Amino acid sequence: MTQAYTTHIHEYDVVIVGAGGSGLRAALGMSAAGLKTACVTKVFPTRSHTVAAQGGISAALNNMKDGDDWRYHFYDTVKGSDWLGDQDAIEYMCRNAIEAVVELEHMGVPFSRTDEGKIYQRPFGGHTIDHGKSMARRACAAADRTGHAILHTLYQQSLAHNTQFFIEYFALDLIMEDGECRGIIAWCLDDGSLHIFRAHTVVLATGGYGRTFFSCTGAHTCTGDGNAMVLRAGLPLQDMEFIQIHPTGIYGAGCLISEGARGEGGYLTNSKGERFMEKYAPNTKDLASRDVVSRAIAVEVLEGRGCGPEKDYVHLHLEHLSPQVLHERLPGISETAKIFAGVEVTKEPIPVVPTVHYNMGGIPTNIHGEVVKNGQKETVSGLMALGEAACVSVHGANRLGTNSLLDLVVFGRAAALRAAETIKPGTPHKTISPDLYAHTLAQFDQLRYAHGDFPTGEIRVAMQKTMQKHCGVFRNDALLKEGLDELKKVQESMKNIRINDHSLIWNTDLLEAWELKNLMAQCWVTLESALQRHESRGGHARDDYPERDDKNWLHHTLSSLDGKNKVTFDKRPVSLTPLTKDVEPIPLQKRVY
Ligand code: FUM
Repeated sequence: MTQAYTTHIHEYDVVIVGAGGSGLRAALGMSAAGLKTACVTKVFPTRSHTVAAQGGISAALNNMKDGDDWRYHFYDTVKGSDWLGDQDAIEYMCRNAIEAVVELEHMGVPFSRTDEGKIYQRPFGGHTIDHGKSMARRACAAADRTGHAILHTLYQQSLAHNTQFFIEYFALDLIMEDGECRGIIAWCLDDGSLHIFRAHTVVLATGGYGRTFFSCTGAHTCTGDGNAMVLRAGLPLQDMEFIQIHPTGIYGAGCLISEGARGEGGYLTNSKGERFMEKYAPNTKDLASRDVVSRAIAVEVLEGRGCGPEKDYVHLHLEHLSPQVLHERLPGISETAKIFAGVEVTKEPIPVVPTVHYNMGGIPTNIHGEVVKNGQKETVSGLMALGEAACVSVHGANRLGTNSLLDLVVFGRAAALRAAETIKPGTPHKTISPDLYAHTLAQFDQLRYAHGDFPTGEIRVAMQKTMQKHCGVFRNDALLKEGLDELKKVQESMKNIRINDHSLIWNTDLLEAWELKNLMAQCWVTLESALQRHESRGGHARDDYPERDDKNWLHHTLSSLDGKNKVTFDKRPVSLTPLTKDVEPIPLQKRVY
């Protein structure tokens, strides 16, 4: 059967998979450096999930004259990460933030403005001045549609620099030889053709895998395709147990209500009308970091103080804010609340619940975006990863809001600088044998003609409910083990999957089945990683190990998956030393809220 597939061969200096913020920032930088650059993307670039980022991008511009400084940003990010973030990478990101945001402004991002005409900045959870003394206004915002503004600008700039786009092409697998990456194999959804993209470097900018969960703020396309390709290539993923749960997803629908809403003065209450965050985080209250607010809401609900007939959500109040603030600063979420909760924010509170939002874990890289094999030094030749797909690690165990848009552009630029240094434009490619991708084609063909009993959607929902129940805000040994047992059953049903459409043209049935296979691989490493980490840190909260344990667990988890879904572990040390002497290392401390 597999001989029936013909493939079209393309040769590029670099191939970027994914057209979100990090993929496009890398694309425009690599194209501008004279590298022949292709961007292969399963959705139209401006539909990439970066478009949904709302509240802002952090940089200590000090436009609001609060005395902000990149060193405070560095401190907050280390603390927010619960000391699992690498301090060298965090320094790189925070000190380059200012230049990165000014660069975006010059490229044309339509940021909101202060009365003086400077980029407007709002407070966000965990952003402070002088090591927690007061709240900072650090999140640079384009109303509450900051990701949208950035993504459109980066796409325009990539086109201006002649990046070649392959739109609605779905990357199936990496092509690896002798441990080096030689390219990718991709399927053109529009005409059903198959393509081999040869590259001196492949950049995986494929986003997160939020869709392993039932309720998440991520788009349906957030299936972590690059992460799964890496696992299939026999390489490890890092820190997969750390999943960020955003405190304010709309009850029922899961859509994000930006933390910017609380940054502009919004607050949470329980069924008794109490502002409960005063109890959990007396200093930072509703603007405590996300893991803290999510856990507080979960406790309120568990202890019977949730709102509504089933007492299973809390209220986010914005009705006290002036209509002008809502109109100018929060137009997007005002609309989302109306559409998805039927709530008029000027009059009534929004029902919200903690909702899966971000994957701190991903493909381990260094600060140049190069994928690392083991420890911190050895790199995988020809392979880079960026954005939510990657784990640099600047977010450690918990990401601060607005650091993700920053991560995209800072490390997208870093990867472009590295590629320009290491790749000579037009260098010929070594020949590769079709044997290197025959296995992928065989798997593709097998799935295409699968004629079992279960449609993809049925298996996917069983997987998502398993993850939601067993790997949520609070975890423990029994719950995680039960989750693994449930996942085994879901995996069994994968053997009995049914694909109704056997064509190759816009076959979303087959596409979703491959995405499901990708998601399943990530469920295994996530659940097993959560089970093996016997401590609570950042987004990983264990009832049975409630304390952070720096003696035994101050290291990154590396998890690999074999063909039988067995997970094996390795460790990567956390860098507690900044990149330069311009900033002091932040010693381990207990987090105070
Ligand atoms: O709440 C938000 O606007 C989300 C921002 C982020 O995740 O960085």
